[in-house]
Amino acid sequence: MTTEKIPTVTLGGNGPRVGLQGLGCMGMSEFYGPTDEAAARAALDVALEAGVTLFDTADIYGLGANERFLAPFVRAHRDEITLATKFAIVRDPADPQTRGVRNDRAYVRQAVEESLRRLGVDVIDLYYMHRRDPKVPFEESVGAMAELVAEGKVKHLGLSEVTGAELREAHAVHPIAAVQSEWSLFSRDVEVSLTGAAAELGVALVPYSPLGRGFLTGAFTDATADLGDGDFRRGQPRFTGENARRNAELLEPVRAAAAAHGATLGQIALAWVHGRAAAHGLTVVPIPGTRKAERVLENTAATRVTLTEEELAALEPIAAQVAGDRYPDMSLTSTVRE
Ligand SMILES: NC(=O)c1ccc[n+]([C@@H]2O[C@H](COP(=O)([O-])OP(=O)(O)OC[C@H]3O[C@@H](n4cnc5c(N)ncnc54)[C@H](OP(=O)(O)O)[C@@H]3O)[C@@H](O)[C@H]2O)c1
Repeated sequence: MTTEKIPTVTLGGNGPRVGLQGLGCMGMSEFYGPTDEAAARAALDVALEAGVTLFDTADIYGLGANERFLAPFVRAHRDEITLATKFAIVRDPADPQTRGVRNDRAYVRQAVEESLRRLGVDVIDLYYMHRRDPKVPFEESVGAMAELVAEGKVKHLGLSEVTGAELREAHAVHPIAAVQSEWSLFSRDVEVSLTGAAAELGVALVPYSPLGRGFLTGAFTDATADLGDGDFRRGQPRFTGENARRNAELLEPVRAAAAAHGATLGQIALAWVHGRAAAHGLTVVPIPGTRKAERVLENTAATRVTLTEEELAALEPIAAQVAGDRYPDMSLTSTVRE
């Protein structure tokens, strides 16, 4: 049986042409509990067959393990896929919970060499600055990334967790193809200033955690009770205790839309991102993360679900009522700089 392929879009003014939905590969190596490697590899293959071409990783996922995990798949399909990775978050292997941020030129040059080596490629298609260190001017950080483009080590540039003003500043140094930031029914900080700037500049948005880290699918309610030891979500303010209970109640309009479309909650969450993108005049390529082939197919099928104006209106009030922050420590997000 051949899988129906999802449509394609162009990321940014002169960026790569990619499937309308990408695949977040982070969970294949860290954060969301143990992974069955064979199942995760099957998910990669099924995604490609369904027309997913944007595969997302970062140097910090599994402290390099996620890039190494992807290497054989990338090698086998180098010309069919758009490979995206990121630099800037620094973790100490002895204390991986602690995060720092580096945007200086020397670090940019060191990080790209390490990612190229782990991925086993000579060029990265889309290279993101994962977090911004406001002490380092974009002339230096994006300037160093632009050098990598000139040297043929990177094809296109991206940013993650930046404000609209920061995007404008960076884009003036070198064209930015895409901004990857959290955007979902539960997380709409990007709509403060980023969506407007991106639409104006013709920069694409790549919403991360579009399924609210799985919460929007209804797969779990209270992370402490429902998820295993070591799952990153057990430390997220939204997914534990009274916040989780209240937030689960917010899913009622999502359930109603799902019933009306014969869809799953996750498919409605993904269709919502596309609905908001259309309202903003933006190109978006969400990157839901899953390690399971059947969920890849469920998620890509969401590209065929279009929500009505009435449904979008019913989903509109949800984000403002969400209890708890996106992260226990918000200091590395763009939200604090808005
Ligand atoms: N730039 C950044 O700072 C940043 C931050 C976070 C994430 N990201 C990127 O964005 C990607 C996606 O974000 P995310 O993984 O955090 O969150 P997400 O896509 O919102 O949710 C992923 C979670 O949902 C589950 N899931 C996926 N499809 C499902 C379905 N159809 N039904 C039920 N559960 C489903 C997954 O479990 P299974 O794997 O078991 O299916 C996983 O636990 C990541 O993989 C990563 O590449 C970037």
